Amino acid sequence: MKIDMYSKLITVCAVFTFSSTLHYEGVSGAKILISAIYGEGSHFLAASAIGESLLKRGHEVTFLISNAYDHRAKDPKYDKFSFEIFNHSVPAERVQRIMNAANHVAFQESNDQFSNLTKSIMELTGQSCKNVITDRALMRRLKAMDAIMMDISWPCGIYIKAALQKDREIPKDLKMIANSPTTLWSGFVSASGSPFNFAYMPETMTGFTNRMNFLQRLKNIVQSILIQASIDSSMLYSFRKMEREVGLQNIVDPFYGYTDFDLYLSNIHFSSDFPVPMVPNLISVGGLTAKPAGRLQNELEEFVQSSGDHGVIVFTLGTYLASITTIRPEIVTMFAEAFRRLPQKVIWQLKELPDWELPSNVKAMPWLPQNDLLGHPKTRVFMYQGGNNGFQEACYHGVPIVVIPLQGDQYDVAARIEARGLGKKIEKLELNADIIYDTLTEVINNPSYNEVADKVSAIYKDQPMSAPDRAAFWIEHVIKFGGAYMRSPANDLTFIQYHLIDVYAFLTAIVVVFLAVVYYTLKFCVSLCCRMIGRGSSGKSKTE
Ligand SMILES: *[C@@H]1O[C@H](CO)[C@@H](O)[C@H](O)[C@H]1NC(C)=O
Repeated sequence: MKIDMYSKLITVCAVFTFSSTLHYEGVSGAKILISAIYGEGSHFLAASAIGESLLKRGHEVTFLISNAYDHRAKDPKYDKFSFEIFNHSVPAERVQRIMNAANHVAFQESNDQFSNLTKSIMELTGQSCKNVITDRALMRRLKAMDAIMMDISWPCGIYIKAALQKDREIPKDLKMIANSPTTLWSGFVSASGSPFNFAYMPETMTGFTNRMNFLQRLKNIVQSILIQASIDSSMLYSFRKMEREVGLQNIVDPFYGYTDFDLYLSNIHFSSDFPVPMVPNLISVGGLTAKPAGRLQNELEEFVQSSGDHGVIVFTLGTYLASITTIRPEIVTMFAEAFRRLPQKVIWQLKELPDWELPSNVKAMPWLPQNDLLGHPKTRVFMYQGGNNGFQEACYHGVPIVVIPLQGDQYDVAARIEARGLGKKIEKLELNADIIYDTLTEVINNPSYNEVADKVSAIYKDQPMSAPDRAAFWIEHVIKFGGAYMRSPANDLTFIQYHLIDVYAFLTAIVVVFLAVVYYTLKFCVSLCCRMIGRGSSGKSKTE
């Protein structure tokens, strides 16, 4: 009888658990919108790796891109993705020029040009988002989405959600995922509710490591304030203007409103980055574009093999600076001079050849199969400008690095490379043929760089899932369960509460009161004693 009851109970429980798990199954076929700036450059490449993993898991992936980069939609590499293309209100050529110019100013030292450029980029930021939100047909199609993953460099996803909400057109709950393509920035980390401790976490664009002296820690905080101020006055300003124009004000949270996202993906990996604390829904997915090397084309493979035991050097300054021949011809001469003296062969990403002949050990190519080259056993060193994707690919394949940071967060990547002992940095203003030659020779011939790179690579590969698969797993996870259960309450607290200033003030007050009580009690006792002693001695003298 008793046993029967138990078994019934167990069956009931089993049915209960079974049905509740069933409820959370079956999210294959979720519709996910991915926004990676306008479809531009390295941000798109990293996001498309996540997109491919989502496809593998049976989801529908749509990229939101602009007409300036609509070639993505025609590229057979991406034919399994859907594309939503919006039109900029300025000509596509102007958009491309602005986005490219950011890379062109790298070798020019004029700050004016840079601030003008920043202004153009920021204007474009709000304007482009308005182009999306006011495209009614497009917005109607976006209603069907289950999740939006947006690159924080262009946080239009927040406004898309707000616009859908405003028209009460949001179906169920639209899940939001933020994706940061660079090394950690305090704004992104804090938005997730994770602590950002300026004592040992270097702010973005400082080029600091996690060991900072007093002045560096001071600069670290000041840099953070400056970045926030410049974002408020440029990007946020641009979005605020757009909000007013489309009637969205008071709907979007301040601070971009991304403190309530379900998931935060960061393109870092702790084998090569500085260890930091993270809340459960801030996930490191470093190495998105790194994968096992594919075969090289015959001609390139032959060139690589012809290097013999000396091996090859892979050299690029990025897609945009591949046209450096016309921007700064003397820099091309400088590198060629250094390469001429090396026994290695050099594969150089260079779009336009100079009018003189390159050294015979150099092969110039307009585009490099970078990941396949870095994974080639003959590759000895990777010389490049310090982008995050390239950093992860070199780490994954265990290739030592010579880094020539040109701007922004490339200095942060350089700091990580030197701090780990993965390679060496050359300052762009100190560039000359001797320094290039000496640094390359040092990194190739000193075995310590290779040993570190091998270990970092082994750690990279010692994980149950590839980086894009990990990202896809977590996206699917929050589509099923939401991210609220992992959310840190840090952003709901006031500054005083978060830093426990009220508690410390209270404790200080107690100590002060206690000390005051002790002090005045003692003072009272002492004076009492003095008086008694005084009276006693005077009494004594009387009786004598
Ligand atoms: C965007 O531009 C293309 C080409 O000019 C045009 O065919 C298309 O209708 C435009 N889309 C919108 C939403 O205006």
